[in-house]
Amino acid sequence: MPRQISYGLHEGDSRSKVLRLARQPAEKRKYRLIVTSPPYFGHRHYGKHEGELGREKTDAEFIRNLADTFSACRELLTEDGSIWIVIGDTRRNMHKLMVPHRLAIELVNKGYTFREDIIWYKKNNIASSAKANFTQAYEYILFLSKNEKSFTNLDEIRVQGNEAREGRNKTPPVHLLQHRSVNPDKGEIARLQKIIHGAKPNTPFSALPSTSEISRAYGYDPEKHCPTCYRKFKRHATRKRVGDHKHYPIFAVCNPSGKNPGNVWEISTKAHYGNEHFAIFPEDLVARIISFASQKGDWVLDPFMGRGTTGIVCALTGRNFTGIDLYSENVRNADQNISDAIHGRYDKKLVEDVNRQAEYMKLAQNSGDQSLQSFLLSERVVSR
Ligand SMILES: C[S@@+](CC[C@H](N)C(=O)[O-])C[C@H]1O[C@@H](n2cnc3c(N)ncnc32)[C@H](O)[C@@H]1O
Repeated sequence: MPRQISYGLHEGDSRSKVLRLARQPAEKRKYRLIVTSPPYFGHRHYGKHEGELGREKTDAEFIRNLADTFSACRELLTEDGSIWIVIGDTRRNMHKLMVPHRLAIELVNKGYTFREDIIWYKKNNIASSAKANFTQAYEYILFLSKNEKSFTNLDEIRVQGNEAREGRNKTPPVHLLQHRSVNPDKGEIARLQKIIHGAKPNTPFSALPSTSEISRAYGYDPEKHCPTCYRKFKRHATRKRVGDHKHYPIFAVCNPSGKNPGNVWEISTKAHYGNEHFAIFPEDLVARIISFASQKGDWVLDPFMGRGTTGIVCALTGRNFTGIDLYSENVRNADQNISDAIHGRYDKKLVEDVNRQAEYMKLAQNSGDQSLQSFLLSERVVSR
């Protein structure tokens, strides 16, 4: 069964297309989410069109053009909609131009609420040969909402525990994990709470309930582990400082569905073979944004869609999609990719893509091809 979504693709300059869409009543306030990655400033050419963004003479002009486009996009967002811009900086000699920061300020001036600047940390980044500055190992994901509040669904993107990774705890065996409380004892909880809240600075520590007693009262086996942070439940019965008591028992557990992923996202980059668009962003990055900021059946827009990654993820997750790109070749590729995703032909490709960037680099290093190596590093074939 093909996946049931609608999509429409437009070829042309994103600002003019967005302005045109905004004049159609049916398009105004239709999109709950905009996800996009515009070109970098001054890095590469996608084709020969003079209206291509990123080729402006100055960074100020580039930022103004981007801000105008995204400001026009605001008209298309639902009142609870948000825009997510994956954007990297540009270095000119020793200067970093602060493109993401300056764009964010412009967009706030145009009415958006600046919600978050997420670091997309590219764990598989390739080291640069620079000696005076560091390898660029991350990009920003700017999250702005049309109004102060926007639609969000954190439960869709919760992640499982990572305490065990760097901490001393080892991942506990499955039979030692306890997902939720079992038969909490209300009477016992009330009795313990009374002791806890009635404690004075001179109450002896021995008169306070033990952490094991507390976790048992709440329905957690003190010897079992939380599936989110892998701590033992008796460690959840933490103690805070009150009066002369350095440790005063309280109880709190993690969300059993997992934890908030935080604002540093560690996601490997991807690159594709063949004649596909080079500067793609990974499907898992887009999937996290789409799952958090939209629901099945919503409309999603990408005004710089490239080979259609946003549309592909929309097809895989049941969202409708509108995409814009300056070049007919990209529109054709995106159309093919989204159609493949709708008909289940893309799923295999998702798996095949892994480690492509390292393969390209190895190839360039083995052949001693310096220009291919610097192309890979500078043109984002390996970094996005
Ligand atoms: C970084 S790429 C986007 C890649 C995309 N996220 C993907 O995964 O394929 C930027 C895209 O912006 C397009 N572009 C550049 N200037 C444009 C303009 N003025 N209007 C519309 N698209 C433009 C380029 O053709 C390119 O495909």
